[in-house]
Amino acid sequence: MSRLAGVAPSVLAADFARLGEEVARVLEAGATVIHVDVMDGHFVPTLSMGPPVVTALAEQVHGAGALLDVHLMVDRPERHVEAFAAAGADHVSVHVEATPHVLYALQAIRTAGCTAGVALNPGTPAEAVAAVAGAIDLVLCMTVNPGWGGQPFIASSPEKIRRLRALVGADVVVQVDGGIDAGTVGACAGAGANSFVAGSAVFGAADPAEAVREIARRAAG
Ligand code: DX5
Ligand code: ZN
Repeated sequence: MSRLAGVAPSVLAADFARLGEEVARVLEAGATVIHVDVMDGHFVPTLSMGPPVVTALAEQVHGAGALLDVHLMVDRPERHVEAFAAAGADHVSVHVEATPHVLYALQAIRTAGCTAGVALNPGTPAEAVAAVAGAIDLVLCMTVNPGWGGQPFIASSPEKIRRLRALVGADVVVQVDGGIDAGTVGACAGAGANSFVAGSAVFGAADPAEAVREIARRAAG
């Protein structure tokens, strides 16, 4: 199984004043991937974080044997790949809608030593993955519109996940992102997803460690 599989807590929903402690709790709970949402105020209306946050987390996450998964919600992501790789990213996902050069961006990610993912907005058909299928380790299926945490899961997503799994085959990770919690993760896993990003369901919970374990249990059926 890919090291990218499993529950990937999104630090977007964490308390930034206590980021190290928040990440420690989910790593101790067994999370092996930490998801970092990068937003540029152009591709999505909101702003979030950049390479310094990846640098700040790298030693702790790698020391625990876990991976840093960077989700670039930015225009022309190919211009930022090297900076995130240098900061300590292990995986970088770029949106197919964010650049006319998505294959180039994916190749640049692998050249920089990271695994590569292509992300699809809810309005983008699953078939968009076909043209880059040989250049990806992961396909990220947005299950909300990107830009904000805490939105409701788009109910039609499992059908798209099923199509994505059929298109990419067994060896590529299918990641879902947005509105994932103990109630929605089962349908995603059943449709073929094997990586589950969860922000508010983890860091908004009274016990984030237990939330990670519960989402993992529900994903396993
Ligand atoms: C949304 C981000 C997500 C976000 C998910 O644009 O890509 O990773 O953190 O947050 P929740 O789990 O709260 O929907
Ligand atoms: Zn994300």
